[in-house]
Amino acid sequence: MLDLLIRNANLPDGRKGIDIAVRGGRIVDLAPAIEADAAEAIDATDCLASPPFVDPHFHMDATLSLGLPRLNRSGTLLEGIALWGELKPLLTHEAVIERAMRYCDLAVSQGLLFIRSHVDVCDERLLAVEALLEVKKRVAPYITLQLVAFPQDGYLRAPGAEQNLSRALDLGVDVVGGIPHFERTMADGAESVRRLCRIAADRGLLVDLHCDETDDPLSRHVETLAEQTTLLGLQGRVAGSHLTSMHSMDNYYVSKLLPLMAEARLHAIANPLINICIQGRHDTYPKRRGLTRVPQMLEMGINVAFGLDCVMDPWYSLGGAEPLDAAHMAVHVAQMTGIDAMTQCYGAVTANAAAAMQIDDYGLAAGRAANMVLLDARDPIEAIRLRPPRLAVIRDGKVIARSSRRTSDLALPGRPAQVSASAYAPRLAG
Ligand code: FE2
Repeated sequence: MLDLLIRNANLPDGRKGIDIAVRGGRIVDLAPAIEADAAEAIDATDCLASPPFVDPHFHMDATLSLGLPRLNRSGTLLEGIALWGELKPLLTHEAVIERAMRYCDLAVSQGLLFIRSHVDVCDERLLAVEALLEVKKRVAPYITLQLVAFPQDGYLRAPGAEQNLSRALDLGVDVVGGIPHFERTMADGAESVRRLCRIAADRGLLVDLHCDETDDPLSRHVETLAEQTTLLGLQGRVAGSHLTSMHSMDNYYVSKLLPLMAEARLHAIANPLINICIQGRHDTYPKRRGLTRVPQMLEMGINVAFGLDCVMDPWYSLGGAEPLDAAHMAVHVAQMTGIDAMTQCYGAVTANAAAAMQIDDYGLAAGRAANMVLLDARDPIEAIRLRPPRLAVIRDGKVIARSSRRTSDLALPGRPAQVSASAYAPRLAG
């Protein structure tokens, strides 16, 4: 007897008519027409059964704080950082937990079950660190929350940041963070990369730096990050987030840089919604898009993932825990409108993001944890196009969220009585 049987689903790899059998929190079989009794069966005809969404770059200590203590008038990164500096002393342990828990509710409703959140350690009290460690514990039954010790005001630049980052790691924060382009000089930036990678090597931790989040083509800290990764044997365990300066770099230099990144097996984490809003702010016209070189990196075999970065906080007033918004934006900004390219963008918010977070027990296959999301869309491209309701979100074999299909009743003579967003238009994928 199965606990759950998903019937007749489409899978992101293009397979159709697949049944997924779940018992004891794990996928026990995945094949067409499974004959078995189940405590619950879900008809997934014309629906996409996907591994859960993964957000590899978020700031949960700031989320849902929009308007506190004021709004970001210019919408720039620097005003956002200044605003966060104003808010930080006003934070309370309880308020950070409350906002983060609310965000996690929203995330679950969207099938977002793995989140890597940076947490600001430039605060003597480590208030946000302690709050998010508590949130990590509370949400563990349904969301895997990975925390990055992030020195927002600079690892070398901010007084006490070095000690605070170590204290945060001692408390159980999982990943070493940094912000080399925000240090006082290029040399300090490179030195911060070396020290942070050394800490990760010594402690056996992962690294994820906010790296070169600028339009300055000479901001090349990703080069040092790749070099240190290879030097210290950290291949596959290091991520560079944002990497927007790569957009503006000289092509000849990039032709040397990309192989170094591939050699280090760096993960590149772009944040398309935030990058398109924040980059190019010093340009008149033409204005640079500023998103990192996603198609070129994918072509080089570099793992590229997309994060949401911010939702309703000092940096970004919009958003709603919808990873497909990031994929949708990337399709447009990176001009990845080919069929294969759009499918890659879906991968960037699922499997690639899971790889960046080093989640092993992930994916739709027999033997894996039964974590998945059932979308009211026929394939990944339709999912990006419609950003559809999540009919069921499943964690360890249990349905933990459900939504209804999105349909509208029409009152038009001679036309159908009802129109649904999904399955109403031509299908792009094969
Ligand atoms: Fe960020």
